[in-house]
Amino acid sequence: MILIVGGAGYIGSHINKELTKQGFKTVVFDNLSSGKKELVKWGEFFQGDLGNIEEIRKVFKDYQIEAVLHFAAFKAVGESVADPQKYYLNNVSNTLNLFKVMRENKVNKFIFSSSAATFGNPQYIPIDEKHPQSPINPYGETKLIVEHIMRDYSAAYDFRYVALRYFNACGADLEGETGEWQGSSSNLIPLTLDAAIGAREEIGIFGTDYPTPDGTCIRDYIHVTDLAEAHVLALKYLMEGGASDCFNLGNGKGFSVKEVVDMAKKVTEIDFKVTPKDRRAGDPPELIADSKKAKEILKWEPKYFDLETIMKSAWNWHKQFKKTV
Ligand code: WQD
Repeated sequence: MILIVGGAGYIGSHINKELTKQGFKTVVFDNLSSGKKELVKWGEFFQGDLGNIEEIRKVFKDYQIEAVLHFAAFKAVGESVADPQKYYLNNVSNTLNLFKVMRENKVNKFIFSSSAATFGNPQYIPIDEKHPQSPINPYGETKLIVEHIMRDYSAAYDFRYVALRYFNACGADLEGETGEWQGSSSNLIPLTLDAAIGAREEIGIFGTDYPTPDGTCIRDYIHVTDLAEAHVLALKYLMEGGASDCFNLGNGKGFSVKEVVDMAKKVTEIDFKVTPKDRRAGDPPELIADSKKAKEILKWEPKYFDLETIMKSAWNWHKQFKKTV
């Protein structure tokens, strides 16, 4: 049985689907604080909170857990600056509870949802695994602290891990079975689609004078189904005895904010309002991943890198919320 902590959320639910498709038995552990029961469409469900160690012990008692994947973290960068305690408690301290119970149960394989936010401002592009890690916000700090905890546990104990550092996760299941719940994101694509369905008046473009071809920021948008595939490959890698390691996950190709907004208009066929705004603090002009290592070692090959495919899948999911606004 594979334990998916935070499996009722956006990324976790896609991993649950992919693991199930590939023959794994799963159990989702989620407190439903932002996750949705409706997204637990595969495997078993156990409602529990990582802040309550007895609830973690219970899920390990009820199921024979072989490996753990962990997605139950807060992820809003701005909120992490305003309320760091919330982030350190949940993203770090609660993860230690999980590790404690894993050790009590001799479960030694762990896949961690890390982030490009661990790198901070890029010193060079594309960003490979050798790039220095120097986060510029508490959210990124929490992810880096857990990476360091895992490194030390792996050296000291019978514990192996893979940390997957996503760049800009996006899109939704191509069969429309899961996606990002409306209102739970502060990211560009869902907010733009909110503008398209009229759930917000406009989309602001944060900065139009960056040193990029069209003046707007460039990001490496990686489809959530490609991320899901990387997790399954990472799990198989650990099951086959692979050593603890970290991998950057992106397409190696960037799209500008303007390109994303234009594609949203094309795909939705809705001409929503777009307003240039000031730069947002802490936004580097360009973030691009170098994922050669994941391709070589995990044999990962992202498939849904085309912006139109990404946007269509996100829209196909997002437009259902039209009725609710
Ligand atoms: C993308 C681009 C914005 C909203 C964040 C985290 C990162 C990772 C992924 C989790 C930027 C611009 C956005 C809007 C805009 N999170 N934008 N108008 O900041 O690249 O990455 O999510 O691991 O750690 O920092 O993603 O989607 O917020 O922004 O112009 O209303 O869109 O300025 O250039 P970001 P994003």
